[in-house]
Amino acid sequence: MNQKHPKGLPILFFTEMWERFSFYGMRAILVLYLTKETMGENPGMGWSNTDALVLYGWYTMLVYVFSIPGGIIADRWLGQKKTVFLGGLLIAAGQLTLVVDSLATFYTGLMLIISGVGCLKPNISTMVGGLYKAGDPRRDAGFTIFYIGINIGAAAAPLIVGYIGEVYGWHYGFGLAGIGMLLGQGVYLWGQKFLKEVGNFIPMEKVEGSKTNKPLTKIEKDRVIVLLISFVIVIVFWGAYEQAGGLMNIYTKEKINRMVFGFEIPASLFQSVPAFFVIIFGTAVASFWLKRNKLGKETSSLFKMAIGIMVMGTGFLMMSGATLEAADGGKAMLIWLILSYLLQVIGELSLSPVALSFITKLAPVKYASIMMGIYFAATGLGNKLAGLVGEFAQSAGEFEVFTGIFIFCLLFGLLLLLFFKKLKELTHGAEEVSA
Ligand code: PHE
Repeated sequence: MNQKHPKGLPILFFTEMWERFSFYGMRAILVLYLTKETMGENPGMGWSNTDALVLYGWYTMLVYVFSIPGGIIADRWLGQKKTVFLGGLLIAAGQLTLVVDSLATFYTGLMLIISGVGCLKPNISTMVGGLYKAGDPRRDAGFTIFYIGINIGAAAAPLIVGYIGEVYGWHYGFGLAGIGMLLGQGVYLWGQKFLKEVGNFIPMEKVEGSKTNKPLTKIEKDRVIVLLISFVIVIVFWGAYEQAGGLMNIYTKEKINRMVFGFEIPASLFQSVPAFFVIIFGTAVASFWLKRNKLGKETSSLFKMAIGIMVMGTGFLMMSGATLEAADGGKAMLIWLILSYLLQVIGELSLSPVALSFITKLAPVKYASIMMGIYFAATGLGNKLAGLVGEFAQSAGEFEVFTGIFIFCLLFGLLLLLFFKKLKELTHGAEEVSA
């Protein structure tokens, strides 16, 4: 991890940190704002819980599904670098539109943010990959560092924007999220001098070895197949993991004993715990895999992803423990929740930054951005799936759903382990490091 990285990395790190601050800050107060009654202090929209959660589900899905148009815009017209800038502008405009209190500005603001994240998030990730040449052994570490930046923004946002939004007023919270994004744009503009080589528009006919409509080679086709399979992995992963904002959040509020030293910690505060764990354990998990690699043991991305899904799934077993403890109507110990998030994050760190890096290694150059776009769209579907699973828990019972997630992830991971050698062959050595 302590190698030198390209100078562009800190620029992308801080830009994305602020974008995530803006994104997670707004997300933290969205449902609270929607469900708050329309009268009294700091009024909201007076929606029912169900209506609010439905909108939340669509929003968290669309925000990533729009990565597909975002990817197309970058590949066809603007290149990633300019599309990221456009995305930042749209996000800031959207957040600032939410400052105005009306239904029309509310929907306009959401649409602007959705389009903006679609332009920014996949393309900035592709740019991180573009900082490294094929076979550069620093690439995975670069993505881990970038991922830590994401989570600094994600950890701070619910605390700061949440506080301002709840205490001073929702619209100040939205405004603060907008200011965060503008700071990100500032960093990005200032850092252009370090990004000269990356994210530029390449006209199709100039893409190495292609004529305009030349079909993909056999190797490229095989790699696209592996990528498509990894998108399924991603849907399963986020479908389980994203319980954090919904089911786990409600469970924490209702059935976890949150008293610490005579003080009751508000449930919403626990929303920052996974992001803090990413910051604390990010480098340790990356070093663990690096060490295994040096010992000559298996460390291909698909292997890490399989292990990641199983470890994350084991986190849900901890929640099964909590439900058993609370079965008599009492509350469960906090340690279950903390252990659950810890295992989920260790799994996340073995999968999520690795998957980002994997895509930049495997995608054919002319489809680089669109492949990343589809990857994020898969994440969006995972988010929607998570909402459906969470809803299902209301009728099926929490123990059944938490345990079900654990078993499913374990079996899914084992299935991947069974087939990963075959899948690895289809990558045709894209992961070979030329150290
Ligand atoms: N915490 C991650 C992030 O905000 C979650 C995520 C992973 C979202 C992959 C989209 C795609 O970046």
